[in-house]
Amino acid sequence: MPAPSLPPGLPREANGQDMSDLLSLDRAAFPDDPMRNSTLRQLLDMYADHLLVIEDDDGHLCAYVLATPPYKGESWIFSLGVAPARRGKGLARTLMTQALETVRAEGASTVRLWVEPGNDPARALYESLGFTPDPEGPHADHFGPGAHRLGMTLKL
Ligand SMILES: CC(C)(COP(=O)(O)OP(=O)(O)OC[C@H]1O[C@@H](n2cnc3c(N)ncnc32)[C@H](O)[C@@H]1OP(=O)(O)O)[C@@H](O)C(=O)NCCC(=O)NCCS
Repeated sequence: MPAPSLPPGLPREANGQDMSDLLSLDRAAFPDDPMRNSTLRQLLDMYADHLLVIEDDDGHLCAYVLATPPYKGESWIFSLGVAPARRGKGLARTLMTQALETVRAEGASTVRLWVEPGNDPARALYESLGFTPDPEGPHADHFGPGAHRLGMTLKL
């Protein structure tokens, strides 16, 4: 009989040792558009203390978010991903809530992000946290040909 599944842990800051796990997690969360190894490494170098991760009961990472340090009062949610098997358990909400608290304490008054217009789970999460969609609607080809994105803003 398989061991019972334990609840994942609390968010912690990432570190250089998380590179391999983060790559796997990002590929699982974004199978059609994963980050390049070099991009993830440089994000870890620059923003490890703003990259929050959650470890699963097996010690591997199952969720992450990167909220950039505020610049001129504005932070960006650069990426948010949860392993498919761990979705629907509140992990993304936990990460987003902690990330927003961090950047608010650091002086952010605005948080921005881009989301695929048809990504209903992500949009529902962001709206429930108070983000509002840009009134002009999605930007065509914003992330490249065919990759339309909707901007969303939260005023803290
Ligand atoms: C979007 C994503 C991060 C949500 O992660 P999650 O851990 O499953 O989300 P949570 O369990 O914390 O749910 C938070 C809220 O998201 C929304 N949500 C989550 N799954 C949903 C679904 N299948 N349908 C509709 N809304 C959903 C709900 O508003 C939910 O709040 P509620 O539970 O109070 O109703 C996850 O589905 C994911 O990693 N998707 C692929 C990567 C991605 O799209 N990232 C966002 C890029 S902008």
